[in-house]
Amino acid sequence: MATPQRNSSVLLIVGGGIAAYKSLELIRLLRTADIAVRTVLTKAGANFVTALSLASLSGEKVYEDLFSLTDETEMGHIQLSRSTDLVVVAPATADLLAKAAQGLANDLASTLLLASNKPILVAPAMNWRMWEHPATRRNCAQLRTDGVMFVGPNEGAMACGESGFGRMAEPAEIFDAIQDHFAGGTNLRGSLAGRKVVITAGPTHEPIDPVRYIANRSSGKQSYAIARAARAAGAEVVLVSGPVNLPAPDGVRVLRVETARQMASAVDASLPCDIFIAAAAVADWRVADDQNEKIKKGAHGPPELKLVENPDILATISRHVSARPNLVVGFAAETEKLIEHAREKLARKGCDLIVANDVSPAAGVMGGDENTMVIITSDGETVWPKRDKDAAAAQLVEHLALLLTQREGR
Ligand code: C5P
Repeated sequence: MATPQRNSSVLLIVGGGIAAYKSLELIRLLRTADIAVRTVLTKAGANFVTALSLASLSGEKVYEDLFSLTDETEMGHIQLSRSTDLVVVAPATADLLAKAAQGLANDLASTLLLASNKPILVAPAMNWRMWEHPATRRNCAQLRTDGVMFVGPNEGAMACGESGFGRMAEPAEIFDAIQDHFAGGTNLRGSLAGRKVVITAGPTHEPIDPVRYIANRSSGKQSYAIARAARAAGAEVVLVSGPVNLPAPDGVRVLRVETARQMASAVDASLPCDIFIAAAAVADWRVADDQNEKIKKGAHGPPELKLVENPDILATISRHVSARPNLVVGFAAETEKLIEHAREKLARKGCDLIVANDVSPAAGVMGGDENTMVIITSDGETVWPKRDKDAAAAQLVEHLALLLTQREGR
């Protein structure tokens, strides 16, 4: 954790969500670290916590009204928005995020966000469907482009009885993010905070009969490493995984599937997202008429398997009409003509970037612990040095975070 910073100040905007009660604990933590806290309580927020609680904990006056004569004479809202080192919105409701993204200024909180010349950190808190709604995702993307920093949300149980991503980060987490910021960190909780990343992993198993299947040698190690790295960078991560022998990474939602068709529907159900990474070795074909009973060895010799093509998940997501992620990444595992085949794949699949790997037995990538990634986009190709799969994943995630911001800024 970063070294505590003395004499910094925070303007804390408390929005209208049940998580508002956690902001009381946040004020206590900030005060213990000698960080001055001025609070703004929205009308909706006042339904959950009282101005008296905020004032008692912060030791300062609480601001509630844009058109308060006394407040405006003592300290105008413009001055309030600027006489702080950092503006923190916790809980940041879907409504507050939407207002901030649109630049609306029809109450004190939204006016302060528009008027401030100081960095802004938001801790979103809402029902998971509201968080996943394309409108909220658009608003968050806009806010990121505008330089707003995010902490959380996290996955977990919600006051409404449902469970999912949208739960406000814990006070200690927000406090750490603030401390990091004051200690000179720019990205707070990571380059992918507030983003959703969906990753496919491992092989698929395509049944021949109840006991036999067609598979491949993918271990899933690289994809799981990417999921860990994306989570460490602050993203909400969904890992759609074929059968592998790997533990679920901490804080990552793992959807376990067997076949390509199951993988395709699990990915579809996980949209919308900001980044889709197709790192699974999806079986190209499945058996046309897989049998319900075990096929017996018989007098007719070995059975003839008729294969049919599986859905191409990467190509489908790349061309998704209503929910194409802003960044779609494919993998090309090749045993020869690596760059040439990967370039062709970039065009055919319609994705934005291909990570090409040499999987010839001599390279030892399949099932091994190291990887050499070649990054291919329409602009050209870059060969990254060979490194262990965790380090390769971390580099890839940082690269994608940057690329995503650049694309959205265009
Ligand atoms: O066509 P090929 O399998 O070589 O393409 C590899 C890339 O396409 C990988 O990113 C893989 O995850 C993805 N893919 C897919 N669905 C398929 C086949 C491949 O998403 N059915």
